[in-house]
Amino acid sequence: MEGKRITIFDTTLRDGEQSPGCSMNVQEKVRLGRQLDQLGVDVIEAGFPIASDGDFAAVQAIAAAVPRPIIAGLARAARHDIERAAKALESAIRPRIHVVLATSDIHLQHKLRISHQQCLEQAANSVRLARTLCDDVEFSPEDATRTDPEFLFQVLEAVIEAGASTLNIPDTVGYTVPAEFGDLIRSIRERVRGVERATISAHCHNDLGLAVANSLAAIANGAGQVECTINGIGERAGNASLEEIVMALRVRADKYAYYTAIATEQLYPTSQMLQEITEISVQPNKAIIGRNAFAHEAGIHQDGMLKNRLTYEIMTPQSVGVPDSKLVLGKHSGRHALSLRCEQLGYHFERRELDEIYRKFVVLADQIKHVHDHHLLEVIREAYGESHRIPPGRVTAEHAEAVAAGAEEPRRLFPGSVPAEFSAATLSAGVSSERHSEQEDYLWGV
Ligand code: KIV
Ligand code: ZN
Repeated sequence: MEGKRITIFDTTLRDGEQSPGCSMNVQEKVRLGRQLDQLGVDVIEAGFPIASDGDFAAVQAIAAAVPRPIIAGLARAARHDIERAAKALESAIRPRIHVVLATSDIHLQHKLRISHQQCLEQAANSVRLARTLCDDVEFSPEDATRTDPEFLFQVLEAVIEAGASTLNIPDTVGYTVPAEFGDLIRSIRERVRGVERATISAHCHNDLGLAVANSLAAIANGAGQVECTINGIGERAGNASLEEIVMALRVRADKYAYYTAIATEQLYPTSQMLQEITEISVQPNKAIIGRNAFAHEAGIHQDGMLKNRLTYEIMTPQSVGVPDSKLVLGKHSGRHALSLRCEQLGYHFERRELDEIYRKFVVLADQIKHVHDHHLLEVIREAYGESHRIPPGRVTAEHAEAVAAGAEEPRRLFPGSVPAEFSAATLSAGVSSERHSEQEDYLWGV
């Protein structure tokens, strides 16, 4: 791997769990914690031990059950919180106490009712206390992006001096924008005394839909750690989505000379597990792991995909653990995908015959959202009966199975799962025996 290694700090079990409807019991957290380990995250923030006995027990259980990653527990800048976090982390091989104290004037005046001087002392004293209990201490100035930068720098210097080795910069309310956040991270790197002894981290919320963009801007300006959650779950509009950050770094390695230790093919299974546990589904068009992230309905797109998947996909579904791309048959679909689906169902048509099927298909697709296999079979039989069945010797086992079962799913674009099956040779063999030019094919496909 080229470039700088970025630490992935997963806070699904802490900040993510704070989002409405996402609470998990201890067993569920341990199950997800083990999956996060498979995924290869560097740090699991397992909970906020002072918050409840359940949270304490979950941090304890994950610390015992998941030995590889660093296990972090959150604590406010107060003795009781810090001691409770240390206690919960006792059996972790690599424990981290994450101390948080707000630093913006809005929070100091209205929430904490303390002065800048009191804030400085409380931050430094808390980190010092945490260091007596744990070698690895992270400090977060809550609402950092609305904090006076000069005061923020002072607080960061004080906590480094007190022993913090990670300086996490939270955009607690999702207020910042990429250029501004990038500048803030760069000025911390340039202006804060002792910063070379610490890792700068970004923790972005998604209130303006900018959490991932802001996290990437932080990385580009010197952050060595990003805090994020599976499916982007978290308070209000959520946290930065782990899968989006990781795949942006991977797919655009030409722009970002950074890499992570994430096993990207575990992204989809992890996302699925979280949806199953919380019973909260992501929106279909969610990047990377949404139901439609690798689905194609438009005829022009389907035609392009059938010729070469690079036309409409910037990463393979397999690279993120999605079994395969899907061609969805709907009113936007074209003859090219229709022809392939007919073949998969065991019927072969010459071009003019397929036109007839296509006309009926479009009328039907205008009435119903998705044309399922049984609908298509009805159309085929109504138009041609069984006269166009592919002789048994030519039908693959998968096709036969699909026909026998009147299969609805899986509506696989290419049976099997390896990218080689996207190759133009395999596809053209599977679609039509008629010869026509590429341009004609494109027009015919829509
Ligand atoms: O958003 C936030 O400020 C937090 C801190 C605890 C890091 O979640
Ligand atoms: Zn947060």
